[in-house]
Amino acid sequence: MLELEGLVTAFDTPRGRLRAVDGVSLKVDAGRTLCIAGESGCGKSVTALSVMGLLADNARVEAGRILFRGRDLVPLPPAERRRLRGRELAMIFQEPLTALNPVLPVGDQVAEVFRIHGTAGPNEARERAMALFEQVHIPDAARRFGEYPHQMSGGMKQRVTIAMALAHRPALLLADEPTTALDVTIQAQVLNLLAELQREIGMAMVFVTHDLAVVAQIADEVAVMYAGRVVERAPVAELFERPAHPYTQGLLAARPRPGQTRHDGTPLPAIRGNLPPLGQRPAGCSFRDRCPRAEARCADETPALRPVARGHEAACLLLEAAP
Ligand SMILES: Nc1ncnc2c1ncn2[C@@H]1O[C@H](COP(=O)(O)OP(=O)(O)O)[C@@H](O)[C@H]1O
Ligand SMILES: [Mg+2]
Repeated sequence: MLELEGLVTAFDTPRGRLRAVDGVSLKVDAGRTLCIAGESGCGKSVTALSVMGLLADNARVEAGRILFRGRDLVPLPPAERRRLRGRELAMIFQEPLTALNPVLPVGDQVAEVFRIHGTAGPNEARERAMALFEQVHIPDAARRFGEYPHQMSGGMKQRVTIAMALAHRPALLLADEPTTALDVTIQAQVLNLLAELQREIGMAMVFVTHDLAVVAQIADEVAVMYAGRVVERAPVAELFERPAHPYTQGLLAARPRPGQTRHDGTPLPAIRGNLPPLGQRPAGCSFRDRCPRAEARCADETPALRPVARGHEAACLLLEAAP
């Protein structure tokens, strides 16, 4: 359904043109969920926004292809990208208010999606919007229909934005941290809802999150990003059982688990240091200055993804045969 081939997205900044996404390749099939995981700033959102064609004005897709149903989206004119958005491609965000108008009743906003795309007249749009409210399990849908965003809880608002995104039964849904702002119980409900709607619609989903607990719950496949690159890619169970890249191993070790509470106050084994900002990333392996296993050769060569097991790839020189 979606295949990225060597995607490079760069920003024009006062310090020159800097790559936030630096050669990302990944793939997701219909009915499947790919999670893009990794620390804040590693390029997850920029990857998703590149696919949607919703990048900031100072951003450019410099290289690579974004194949959606086999067709490259990169060279398409803006009007064609707009037509795809909200129909075949849809996106939901961390903060539902970015997608909702504060001064319009939520039901009208969902109905509006059909009007914008010219896919239903006013009466049919209302009926279809009401049906969507029921499909996303908004209780007491008829009354909720007339409410304004500020009258709703975060979880209910996110259900409204999901209804808008799914109005035209998209082939691909991009979800950028859509549960991060919600309480964990509400988060689980929204994840279950997305999984249920995915089964009904058969859509592919790219789910961006920094939260490994969310990855474990919703992913089929996982791509771990670091500093604008995919450093590991695997089916979800394989990734959790046999993480190959030192960065993935560090993320998994830093995760709080039951029975691991350190009553003596020893901190969890966090990955040392921070993700360096754009333009300050080391040559060679960009993780090497934080890597507990880095060797001299890690500075000389940028590791490429290579197979470590069936369907499992990692980009680390130490996984290759010693030189
Ligand atoms: N409009 C912009 N101009 C310059 N740099 C940007 C812009 N938007 C994002 N970035 C930078 O791109 C990098 C990747 O950001 P992002 O994809 O948002 O990370 P995340 O993985 O947290 O979603 C970050 O270093 C961020 O500061
Ligand atoms: Mg982000």
